[in-house]
Amino acid sequence: MVRPSSLAVLPLLTVVVTGCPAGPPEGFLPATFPDGFGWGTAVAQWQAEGDEGEAGPVDSNWSRWAAMNKLKGEQRNPRGNGFHTDYQADIDRAAGLGVKYFRLSLDWARVEPQPGVYDDAELVHFEAVLDAIRAAGMEPVLTLYHWTVPPWVQSPDPDSPEGVLDRIAAKDDAVVDDFEGFVREVIPRIKDRVDSYTVLNEPLSMVVVGYIDGRFPPGGVLAIERATDFGINLMRMHARAFGVIKQLDDVDADGDGAASFIGVTMTANDVYPENPDSAQQQLAAESMNYVYNDWVLQTLTRGVLDVDLDGDVEPGSVTDPPEGDYPELANTLEFIGVQYYGPVKVKESTLLNNVAPLFGMPLTDVALYTDDDDQARPHNGMGREISGAGFADTLDRYGRWGLPLIVTENGTTTNLRPAFGERDPPPIPAPVFDEDQAAMYLTVHLWEVGRAIARGLDLRGYYHWTLADNFEWSEGTLQRFGAYTVDFDDPAMPRTLNKMGTAYQEIIAAGGVTEELWDRYVLPRFPTDGTAAGVGSTASGPQVGVLPTR
Ligand code: BGC
Repeated sequence: MVRPSSLAVLPLLTVVVTGCPAGPPEGFLPATFPDGFGWGTAVAQWQAEGDEGEAGPVDSNWSRWAAMNKLKGEQRNPRGNGFHTDYQADIDRAAGLGVKYFRLSLDWARVEPQPGVYDDAELVHFEAVLDAIRAAGMEPVLTLYHWTVPPWVQSPDPDSPEGVLDRIAAKDDAVVDDFEGFVREVIPRIKDRVDSYTVLNEPLSMVVVGYIDGRFPPGGVLAIERATDFGINLMRMHARAFGVIKQLDDVDADGDGAASFIGVTMTANDVYPENPDSAQQQLAAESMNYVYNDWVLQTLTRGVLDVDLDGDVEPGSVTDPPEGDYPELANTLEFIGVQYYGPVKVKESTLLNNVAPLFGMPLTDVALYTDDDDQARPHNGMGREISGAGFADTLDRYGRWGLPLIVTENGTTTNLRPAFGERDPPPIPAPVFDEDQAAMYLTVHLWEVGRAIARGLDLRGYYHWTLADNFEWSEGTLQRFGAYTVDFDDPAMPRTLNKMGTAYQEIIAAGGVTEELWDRYVLPRFPTDGTAAGVGSTASGPQVGVLPTR
C-alpha cells in the first residue's frame, strides 16, 4: 500500500492543477535562450525507416505486431517516411531549421537479427547517416532502445516460429548480457561520431503500453508482475550500457572535453486528480507521479530499487529481486531527458482503485474526462490535453534531481483528432490539419522552456518531436507530429514545411520567444480579451503563456 508520506521523501511530489485562470497578464515576459542553447530535432528509426533494411525487410517485435493487425486500420510500416533512402534531404531540412542536435535511434532488431549475428550493412548505413549529420554541422544524439527489438528478444506472435517470447519481462537478467553484446558491437563503430547518448526511450511508456493497457507489443493487459520484471531489466540494461559506453567511447567527437554524456529519456507525465477533493484520486495521482517521474531516476541515481513501486524501499523484502541498494545501478545518469506532451488526469475506477500502484484510471485523452467543459480543453490529434502550465511544473519537478535537463522530446500533432476508431477497417481517412494550433502549442511550450531557464533551471537543450511526419506506432500515419508535413499518398513522400516548423525556425533564429512571435502564433488563437486570455498560474506564479480552457 502506498503511504503518501513515504513518497514525500523523494523529490517533493506536487499535485498539480493546471489551467487555473489567474487574471490578466501584467506585461509580456520574453523568453530568451542563452548562446549555445541546444536546439534540436528528434526522430526514431522504426518510425522514420519502418521495416526497410539494406537487404530486405527487417523483422522485429513491431513488424510482427503490425502483421498481427494490431495497428489502427491494419496499417503496416514498410518504409516509415522514407528516411532510410532519403536521409540526406531530411538532414539538410533539419540544418535548415537551425538546430544543432539531431536525436535519432539505432534499432537492435536491425543490427543483431540473430543472437551474436551482426548485420554489417546496417551498421555501415548508420555510419553514413551519422556522417551526414555531422557534415551538415549538427551533433547526433543516439538512443539505443527506442522500442524496437529483434524477435529473438521479444516476439508477440503465437503463430511465429518462436511463439510468444519475451526475454526482457523475465525474472532472470539474461537479456542484460544480450543487450551488452549489441552495445559492444555498436560503440566502436560510432564512437568517433557520437558523444551524447540516451540508452532507453521512455522506459515507463514501454512498461505501461506494453504490459498494462496492451496497445504495444507484447500486448500485456494489467500484467503488473511482468511489467515490473520488464522495468527492472530495463534499469539493468541501462546501467550495463552506461558502463560499456564509458569504457569503449574514448573519443571526444564534439570537442567539449568529454567523450560521452549519457542520460535517460523520461515519460514526463504531470498527473493530477480530476477531483482534487477526492482522497482516492489524490492517492492515485501521487502514486502515478512517483511511478512515471521518479522511480527510474531514483533507481539510476541512488541505486535504490523499489520493486513493488510503493514508494518504500524495505531491505529484506520478500519481493524478487529483494528491495534495497543496487550499487551497480547507481550514478549511471549524467543528464535527464524530459519528454513532455501534456498532463494526465486521474479519475476513480472501481476496477483499478485497489490495484497498486495505479489506484485509479489515468486519462490521457480529454474525451474520457468526466466534465463537458474539460472535454473541450485544447487537445492534440491524440486527445492529449494541451497545457503550458503542466510543462512548467514538470520542468521544475525534474530540476529537483540536480542533474542537467534536456527536453529530448516535446511536440504536438498538426492534425485534429481523426474520425477513426480503434477497430475501424481500412482505409484510414486523410488528415484534417490545424497548423495554427500546432504552431501555438510549440510557441507556448518554448516560452515555458525560456521561462524555466530564466528561473534558474539547468536546462541545456530542446529537441522538437519531430522533423517530418512519420509512423506514429499504433496510430501509423493517422497522427502527424512533423515540422514537415509528409504526403504519404505519393510514393516519393514529399515534404512541406508547415506553420509549426516555421514557428520553430523563427524562434530559433530570434533566440527566443519574442513578443512579436507570441503575438503572431499565440494571440490569434487566444486573444487577450479577458475571457480567453493566455493567462494562468504555474509553479512560479501568474504568467503569460498558460493556455486557457475554451
Ligand atoms: C515517443 C515517440 C512518439 C511520441 C508521440 C513519445 O513518447 O518517444 O516515439 O512518436 O511520443 O506520441
